[in-house]
Amino acid sequence: MVNIKGLTFTYPNGKGVKNASFEVNKGEVVGFLGPNGAGKTTTIRCILGFMKGNSGTCKIDGKECFENAEENMKDIGFIAGEIAFPENMRAKEYFEFISKIRGCDMRRCDELCKMFEVDTKQIIQKLSKGNKQKVALVSAFMHDPKVLILDEPSSGLDLLMQHKFLGLVNKAKAEGKSVLMSTHNFNEVERTCDRVVIIKDGEIRADKKLTDIKNLEKTFLEVYDV
Ligand SMILES: Nc1ncnc2c1ncn2[C@@H]1O[C@H](COP(=O)(O)OP(=O)(O)O)[C@@H](O)[C@H]1O
Ligand SMILES: [Mg+2]
Repeated sequence: MVNIKGLTFTYPNGKGVKNASFEVNKGEVVGFLGPNGAGKTTTIRCILGFMKGNSGTCKIDGKECFENAEENMKDIGFIAGEIAFPENMRAKEYFEFISKIRGCDMRRCDELCKMFEVDTKQIIQKLSKGNKQKVALVSAFMHDPKVLILDEPSSGLDLLMQHKFLGLVNKAKAEGKSVLMSTHNFNEVERTCDRVVIIKDGEIRADKKLTDIKNLEKTFLEVYDV
């Protein structure tokens, strides 16, 4: 469903992603692991079609991500790193705004807001970090997309909300959706992922089934020679 082949994106300072290849199949959750600065967000922004790689291909359902960014968005739910919410907008207004763009109704959104206890009347920028993250999560899942591209989706969530989020990911997987999720939380990976992709200095260093990994933390540290 998500297919990345030889993707290279280089910032002017020479950093970025080098010759990355991996896939996310239908009904699969892939954990995208690597420390700060490894290249996760850069890869994710190419998948979302926000940036075009210098070389290689990056496709969702066979369609090149950059060239088809707008069309692909109907099928994708995403969290793209630090989210810039519109100023002075209440969560409710934000969700209505997004639902119009995507052409989806508000039923699922209302359910998700209840589930994550989102204060929809509050100005988003006045919310705490965790509560802002919940707004981002609702906006990622509200149109029931086929593909979920999530950059550190659980950052700032309390344990209860994390638990609810993992339930949502596992439900999406059971429904045959494809999920790519960057995270620093191994427990989260073990509870949801089928496969992990580990990136180091912009290069993919491991792509393994979770069932083939005895100790995830050890595997991760080995990639990093720790
Ligand atoms: N806008 C940018 N300009 C220049 N370098 C950047 C930019 N964004 C990220 N980088 C660099 O690219 C590398 C990968 O960053 P990033 O993809 O954000 O990593 P991660 O999401 O894994 O923390 C880092 O070395 C980072 O400093
Ligand atoms: Mg990042």
